[in-house]
Amino acid sequence: MVDIDPKQVIKGEVLSEETFIKLVLSNPLRGKENPYVRVTVRPVIVRDRRHLQFSYFDGEQDIAKNYHGGEAEARIDEVLDLPFGQANIFSAAGDLEVLISRKGNVHVVRKPPTSREVPRAPTHDREKDHPIPVDDPLLRTLGIVTKKGKKVRAGRRGKFVQINEFLRIIDQVLPEDRSGPVSIVDCGCGQAYLTFAAYHYLNHLQGIPAEVVGIDNDPDRISKSKSMLGELGWTGIEFRTARIAVFEPDTPPDITLSLHACDTATDEAIAQGCRWHSAAILAAPCCQHELHDLIDAPPMRPVIRYGILRERLADIVTDTFRALALRISGYRTNVEEFVSAESTSKNLMIRAESGLEPGDRQFVEEYNRFKEFWGVSPAIEQLLGPGFQEMVRDGH
Ligand SMILES: C[S@@+](CC[C@H](N)C(=O)[O-])C[C@H]1O[C@@H](n2cnc3c(N)ncnc32)[C@H](O)[C@@H]1O
Repeated sequence: MVDIDPKQVIKGEVLSEETFIKLVLSNPLRGKENPYVRVTVRPVIVRDRRHLQFSYFDGEQDIAKNYHGGEAEARIDEVLDLPFGQANIFSAAGDLEVLISRKGNVHVVRKPPTSREVPRAPTHDREKDHPIPVDDPLLRTLGIVTKKGKKVRAGRRGKFVQINEFLRIIDQVLPEDRSGPVSIVDCGCGQAYLTFAAYHYLNHLQGIPAEVVGIDNDPDRISKSKSMLGELGWTGIEFRTARIAVFEPDTPPDITLSLHACDTATDEAIAQGCRWHSAAILAAPCCQHELHDLIDAPPMRPVIRYGILRERLADIVTDTFRALALRISGYRTNVEEFVSAESTSKNLMIRAESGLEPGDRQFVEEYNRFKEFWGVSPAIEQLLGPGFQEMVRDGH
């Protein structure tokens, strides 16, 4: 019997890119609820990028899904929380069998490697392994890479990574049954790195017709983006000076984006995405001041007392309200790290995809309890307007 946290051990093995081959979770514990008989996780390379493939077997059918980055990690945590009695890890460094009893006793056996498979890790040039690679001329035009186009500028590496990760996620949420071009609105586009990148990636690199609109309330930024657009001579992309909350697009976008739109501008983007019935809303929040001075709950005072803890807590509370509001509005919602914290400390993405029934009571109740606990009324509620307010009022 070993006094260890089996989840941490298994997760560590799965995340070891150089050695991990396969994880099989089996032997569901009797008397505990588990939708699956077996879950298998193995690395696969999709579009030159390492993903983890999860195969969920419920006794009748096997459903396979691929995830990467923060989302893959979240899915690992999810499956390791399921009540399985056995985990087998196949690794080039040696196999591992973990047996967990109904009472939670853990037995770990290490064995020599048995699989002849080779661990799947991407082997090629990492600088080229991006939706928009370093040597793409657009990155030179945007000033993200050096004039010779060979290296990412030191101060621009963060944006380079953020944009590319955004593009990977856009790839995953592209609506399948579209008849015309994919339409995208980039809210709070600033210097329009993401706006140009999304347009270029879809139209020129993927061959997927796409129309993109960048909006920002700063006329100088919009004017600079317009002149860059003039240099590129591209059509199907436009820039407008507008406040997100009141912007009316010619075509309601399939995908609403916001990358670090300041403070409640993220709420404006989320609310507009819902109003436009976008199939996907991808919002990476930035500075969040709205609830900073408002949150108060007596049991949380020891946290709120310290400036930095209050700040982080306010960020979490704000994003939780946003995620809940999206879920109530009928969006399958996840909050994930879309880039590492080295790229930016603002590395969360609220990712929402339409398709659920709005007004789910469970989430309405959670929303109302959460509001009551913190004693606040979040901006997202005001911005989502009367339809949403009625939904959460009725459920109270
Ligand atoms: C931090 S910048 C991010 C720009 C860009 N998305 C990026 O990641 O490089 C935030 C941008 O949002 C714009 N902005 C802030 N509030 C806005 C609002 N309510 N409506 C439109 N734009 C807004 C600002 O003018 C600024 O250009």
